[in-house]
Amino acid sequence: KVPVVIDTDTAQDDCTALLVGLLDPRADLRAITVVAGNVGFDQQVRNAFLTLNAAGRLGEVPVHLGCRRPIVRPWESAEDVHGDGVGGMTMDMTGCEPRPEHAVDTLVRLAAESPGELTIVCIGPLTNIATATVKDPAFVDNVGGLHVMGGSNNARGNITAAAEFNFYVDPEAAKTVFAAGFDITVIPWAPLTLERAVFGPEQLAEIDALDTPLSRFFTRACAATLEFDRSVGINGTTHPDSLTAAVLLHPELITRAARYHVDVETQGELTRGYAAMSWGVHGLEPNATVVEDVDAQEFYGYVTELLAGQVEL
Ligand code: BDR
Ligand code: CA
Repeated sequence: KVPVVIDTDTAQDDCTALLVGLLDPRADLRAITVVAGNVGFDQQVRNAFLTLNAAGRLGEVPVHLGCRRPIVRPWESAEDVHGDGVGGMTMDMTGCEPRPEHAVDTLVRLAAESPGELTIVCIGPLTNIATATVKDPAFVDNVGGLHVMGGSNNARGNITAAAEFNFYVDPEAAKTVFAAGFDITVIPWAPLTLERAVFGPEQLAEIDALDTPLSRFFTRACAATLEFDRSVGINGTTHPDSLTAAVLLHPELITRAARYHVDVETQGELTRGYAAMSWGVHGLEPNATVVEDVDAQEFYGYVTELLAGQVEL
């Protein structure tokens, strides 16, 4: 089993990524840590509990609350994209108590408990990870690896022309994390997500036809983003976060990856959050593996099987 923490700004594809961590028998999901990002912080926490409930694992995996805003800048949300992140689903939250320990302390503690073994799946802004890095000098060495959803390796952004949302929201955190010396795997927004992690009409019809509680949860959680994605010319719902979790548990999904030196722009007027990915001709040592291609059909099939409740190791 792979020891994992998922650090999330829980909405839509974050929920699907949590389902991957909660339902795939290869994952030993030790905690869910929440970070400011997509939608209101308290809503993100509710969304984490809704997802735990959908997976039938309420009370089994602890939820810890992390940083409520980026390190330097005010929080900017993506509520125009995600709505509340779960398509208006609600439930009785009695007994859904986050743990008292701050998420940054949880990350530091869990990494120290099994040095070199824990992978953190980072699918929101990198505020919690950067703060843990600053707080505990041993954190970088104690963490086995980071699987980071963020950036684009062709400069095509989704929040500005140059920037992807997670790096844009807290560019100082992203810069800190890439400079720290972690073993990092990056799952970029473009071109990878746009080409390989969009559930289009065919995949969505297949998921609808499952008609399981999990498939209904997925369809509802993705509804707002599907509408938004269609309005900007994407023919389906984008799932970079679940791809990030999936390639950790099933690296055979990756068909091409390359080493890059990744740095994140914090100053540019038009390029805040831009991920500069240098491929070796600029005299910079690589600090990350960037996933460049995956087997999309296998990925869609994997998620669909999860939602059907049929994942086998
Ligand atoms: C990232 O931002 C969020 O909207 C998604 O959950 C994903 O983590 C994509 O830019
Ligand atoms: Ca996310």
